[in-house]
Amino acid sequence: MTETAQQQIHKGLAGVVVDTTRISKVNPETNSLLYRGYPVQELAAQRSFEEVAYLLWYGELPTPEQLAELTAAERAGRALDPVVRKVVDELPTTAHPMDVCRTAASVVGARDSQTEDSSREANLAKALRLWAAMPAVVAYDQRRRRGQDAVEPREDLDYSANFLWMAFGEEAAADVVEAFKVSMILYAEHSFNASTFTARVITSTLADLHSAVTGAIGALKGPLHGGANEAVMHTFEEILAASGGEDLSVRAKSWLDDALANKRKIMGFGHRVYKHGDSRVPTMKASLDKMIEHYGRQDLAELYASLESAMGEAKNIKPNLDYPAGPTYHLMGFDTPTFTPLFVASRITGWTAHIMEQLEANSLIRPLSAYDGPDERHLS
Ligand code: COA
Repeated sequence: MTETAQQQIHKGLAGVVVDTTRISKVNPETNSLLYRGYPVQELAAQRSFEEVAYLLWYGELPTPEQLAELTAAERAGRALDPVVRKVVDELPTTAHPMDVCRTAASVVGARDSQTEDSSREANLAKALRLWAAMPAVVAYDQRRRRGQDAVEPREDLDYSANFLWMAFGEEAAADVVEAFKVSMILYAEHSFNASTFTARVITSTLADLHSAVTGAIGALKGPLHGGANEAVMHTFEEILAASGGEDLSVRAKSWLDDALANKRKIMGFGHRVYKHGDSRVPTMKASLDKMIEHYGRQDLAELYASLESAMGEAKNIKPNLDYPAGPTYHLMGFDTPTFTPLFVASRITGWTAHIMEQLEANSLIRPLSAYDGPDERHLS
C-alpha cells in the first residue's frame, strides 16, 4: 500500500481546523460573520473603519479617547514616504499594482526601526503605521499610471474620505465615502482564509510582521482569492463584448454557457466556506445599488442581476463579496487592477490582528505530506 493510501489527505486543507481564533467567526450555516462577536453588518452600518481596525487589534471597540488617539496616529502616518515613492517610481507601469503593493509593504518594513521587535506593543505600532501608509501607495500608484502626480493627504478627512481624496484629487460625495467605508469594513477580516493563513505561517517561524504581510499580499493576488474582484470586471467586459443581441440577460447567459462549457471558473462566485451565499454580499450589494443610483448606471445593475441569475440557474452557485465589490470600485473611478490593492489596504487590519494572535500562543506551522514519488533508487 502506498503512503498516500494509508494516510488521509486533506487537499487544500478543506475542512481542517488548524487553530482557535478570537478575531472573527464565520458561520456558513447561519450565513453570519462576526468580528470579535459583533455582526459585520452592524459594524458596517454604524461604525467607522477606524473603530473596526481598533476592534480587530484590541478585541473591544474603542472609547472616544482611544479612538481619538488611533485616529491621530493614523492621520500622522498618511504621507507617502519619499523612499517608498522612489522605489515605486522605479517599477514599470506594466507591473501589476499588487506587485507594487507587495514591494511597498516590504520597503516599509525594511525602513521601520522596530522591524525586529515582535512584542505586542511594537507589532501594534507597526500594524498601525503600515495601515496608515498603504492608502498613499495605492492612490499614488494609480495616479502615476495615469500620468498624474501624488496628492498630499488631508488631515481633516477620515480614513475613507482621505483615501478617495488621495486617489482622485477631489473630495468624494458623502454616499461614495460611505460605500467605500462599508467595503473596507467588509474586507477587513475573514478568519483563516489563504492570505491570513499565509501570514500566520510566516509568523509561526518568528519572522517579522512586515514579512508576514508581504507574503499575505502575494497570496491575496491570486484570482481564486482577492484577485477575483478585479476579475469580475473582466467578466463584465467580456459579456458586454459578447454577441447575443441587446438583451443583457441573453448575452450573460450565452457568455456563461460558453465559459462553463470551457470549464472556466466564474470569478466572484463560490466560496470555500459559504455554500449558501456569502454573509457579506447583501451589505455590499446595498452599497453597490447606491453607487449605481449615484452614478446613474442602471445598465450595470442589469448586468449584475443577469449573470447572478444565470449562474444560479446553471450551477446554483452564489456570489461572494468580490462580485458586488468589483463594480462598486469601478463606479467610484478606480482602475480595475487597483481593486485588489484596495482589499490589501483593508485586510492589513485583519492580517496584523492574526499575526499578533499567532504570536500569543505560537507553534511552528509545519504539516506533513504523503510521499508518492519514485521508490528509493541509487546513482550507480
Ligand atoms: N465557477 C464555476 N464553477 C465553480 C465555481 C465558480 N466560481 N466555484 C465552484 N465551482 C464548482 C467547481 O468547479 C466544482 O464543480 P465540480 O464538482 O463539478 O468539479 C464545485 O463547484 C465545487 O467547487 P470547489 O472547487 O470544490 O469549491 P472550492 O471550495 O474548492 O472553491 C473557490 C472555492 C472560491 C476557489 C471557487 O468557488 C472559485 O474558484 N471561485 C471563483 C474565484 C473567486 O471568486 N474567488 C473569491 C473567493 S472569496
